[in-house]
Amino acid sequence: MQDLFEKIKKNRGPLGTHAKESHGYFTFPKLEGDISNKMIFRGKEKLVWSLNNYLGLANHPEVRKADADSSSNYGMALPMGARMMSGNSNYHEKLENEIAQFMQKEDCLLCNFGYQAMVSSIDALVDRHDVIVYDSESHACIIDGLRLHMGKRFVYPHNNIENLEKQLERATKLVNESGGCILVITEGVFGMSGDQGKLKEIVDLKSKFNFRLFVDDAHGFGTMGATGAGTGEAQGVQSGIDIYFGTFAKSMASIGGFIASTENVIEYLRYNMRSQIFAKALPMPIVMGALKRLELLRTQPQLKNNLWEIVYALQNGLRQAGFDIGKTESPVTPVYLNGTIPEATNLIFDLRETYDIFCSMVVYPVVPKGIIMLRLIPTAVHTIDDVNYTIECFKKIKVNLENGKYNVNKIVSI
Ligand SMILES: Cc1ncc(COP(=O)(O)O)c(C=O)c1O
Repeated sequence: MQDLFEKIKKNRGPLGTHAKESHGYFTFPKLEGDISNKMIFRGKEKLVWSLNNYLGLANHPEVRKADADSSSNYGMALPMGARMMSGNSNYHEKLENEIAQFMQKEDCLLCNFGYQAMVSSIDALVDRHDVIVYDSESHACIIDGLRLHMGKRFVYPHNNIENLEKQLERATKLVNESGGCILVITEGVFGMSGDQGKLKEIVDLKSKFNFRLFVDDAHGFGTMGATGAGTGEAQGVQSGIDIYFGTFAKSMASIGGFIASTENVIEYLRYNMRSQIFAKALPMPIVMGALKRLELLRTQPQLKNNLWEIVYALQNGLRQAGFDIGKTESPVTPVYLNGTIPEATNLIFDLRETYDIFCSMVVYPVVPKGIIMLRLIPTAVHTIDDVNYTIECFKKIKVNLENGKYNVNKIVSI
């Protein structure tokens, strides 16, 4: 037997192992100042490519005013309690109605956190007789929802529709015996690689198999499709998505999320999602702020147009400069380089300190050993100058990497 605290002291977890060397710089960095393309990191201005402020709403004057006015009028306390007990309001219902209308779904349920919404809705929807079939690159919130599932789960390799079909055959056999149901879960836009879930192909499989489709479109809501209604709209299969999840934390630059579906499903979730029944409702300023953000998202298409102008300039420019940006089909822009973890940290340090560029770095185990992924998130508030400057700097750091400049066999000390 061992003491829990002693065990934790020895085993820090995969990320915590590097906490001492990385805290405050590579992990838990503090970006200060107004949220925009340029922010302050450790007292110096940096060009920032790591915020999911896709439409630039974080610092939009109308958004700031709505946030400030509603905070001043209502404070953070209202409404008190869970929606079901004492925490409902006309504004919560108004926001739900407006989202449902925008998403072309019958109804909508607000959720306190996007992550929790996915975990808890999966938990509420299925029981031990049901089978979940899911994409292997699903976000942690889907994986954690699966952990609560008492029935079978079958995974298919990322976007491999042939294999999905095999899993659906297996699942169908099983539910024919158990009397259960099949739920397929995937993402609209995959947040690391930026490629889209093959929603059209999955929806087409409904002619062969009996299942319901749940799509986590955290990165697609507000950025994809003609009106910004997401990846289903972009692929022309919005009505084939049975349950749609979106977050307020990315294109809406806030916090919270929603699930949109049929009246039947939403009423069921309203009365069965434990994370909403047993937790306090979204505070009024978040709801009022989300109403304003949704209004801008719907009525100001130039925000999305600005975003995509930057996306195309950045992605085309990187490709033309010989960079591997993988299979992205969305604003998410990964740049794949070859190198070790110490090289990655030295490279990021150089990028931040010499070139004043702040972006996120992803290494093993999220990507295979020997790959360094720099992840850039373009937004509507970036400029073409930002794009050109970044590509020029990236060319230099690539040459440095290839010449072994970052191969100093020790992680930079910060
Ligand atoms: C695909 C996906 N789903 C869900 C979430 C969780 O959303 P939230 O930040 O609103 O909790 C994220 C956020 O990173 C995400 O990328």
